[in-house]
Amino acid sequence: MGSSFRIWPEQASTIAGRVDGLYGFLIAVAVFFSGLIFLLVLYFAIKYRRRPGNMRAQQVGTHNWLEMTWILIPLALTMVVFVWGARLYAMVMLSPPANSLEVYAIGKQWMWKFQHPDGQREIDELHVPVGHPVKMTMTSQDAIHSFYVPAFRIKMDVVPGRYTTTWFEASKPGVYHLFCAEYCGTNHARMRGRVIALAPTQYEEWLSSNRAVEPMATTGAHLFQQMGCALCHGTALAPALEGVFGSSVQLQNGATVLADEDYMRESILNPGAKLVAGYAPIMPTFQGQLSEEELTQLVAYIKSLRQKPAGGR
Ligand code: CUA
Repeated sequence: MGSSFRIWPEQASTIAGRVDGLYGFLIAVAVFFSGLIFLLVLYFAIKYRRRPGNMRAQQVGTHNWLEMTWILIPLALTMVVFVWGARLYAMVMLSPPANSLEVYAIGKQWMWKFQHPDGQREIDELHVPVGHPVKMTMTSQDAIHSFYVPAFRIKMDVVPGRYTTTWFEASKPGVYHLFCAEYCGTNHARMRGRVIALAPTQYEEWLSSNRAVEPMATTGAHLFQQMGCALCHGTALAPALEGVFGSSVQLQNGATVLADEDYMRESILNPGAKLVAGYAPIMPTFQGQLSEEELTQLVAYIKSLRQKPAGGR
């Protein structure tokens, strides 16, 4: 299951077929034109070879239609690839379905650490349900890594200092390779893992057999108390955080910002960077006091304060 080497990895996500369609098109275009050019070179080399009565090439004038043809055909082909590729990319980059299961990932030299919303943690293994979208919110605690699951046709850099996201929906049960696709030091090549896609009932079994943990948002809520956040947030000193996630926030400098995971993280570590309108810059930085895990738990807590439930779980 997934451990044997394949030149073309199996298709195991809802977008795999669409990515392969684009790849197939690119390969078909490359093969067609390579073949065409090869045959024409051969044909012209024979037809116009040097022989008695035809010792020297004759100068030929410009054919405008010919010039236009080999400008317009490649232009059209590259635009097809551009639009096709951009749409696929935007689909994966920008549109995790609202009912996605949210999994947090932290890359470190040289392992993958995952935490599920219900609190289950895993290292180098990620259990997901088949037929349900999974949104990954990822960061690194050291070098740049890259989350790459060939069978799902997704790859996304995992960068220190910010969150990147990607999503997938596994389409058949199985065990799939997870690779780090960005050179990150000595053991980069060993920074591998497995994504284990389970049928929904088996996934529920897996979840409940690992249930002896508290949800991420609960851990985050404890941290929120421990670190003293609750002393100011919700009072006149700092904004209440209920319903903030996903909203657009008016800043002191007149700009607005979408309150997403990255904004939460930045506001904890560098509170002055995007100050909310109407509040003084009195919040201390928590840089160096919170691990990446704790940051994701705080973010999960703030997300859980959404007033209207976003469906799904
Ligand atoms: Cu992590 Cu390469």
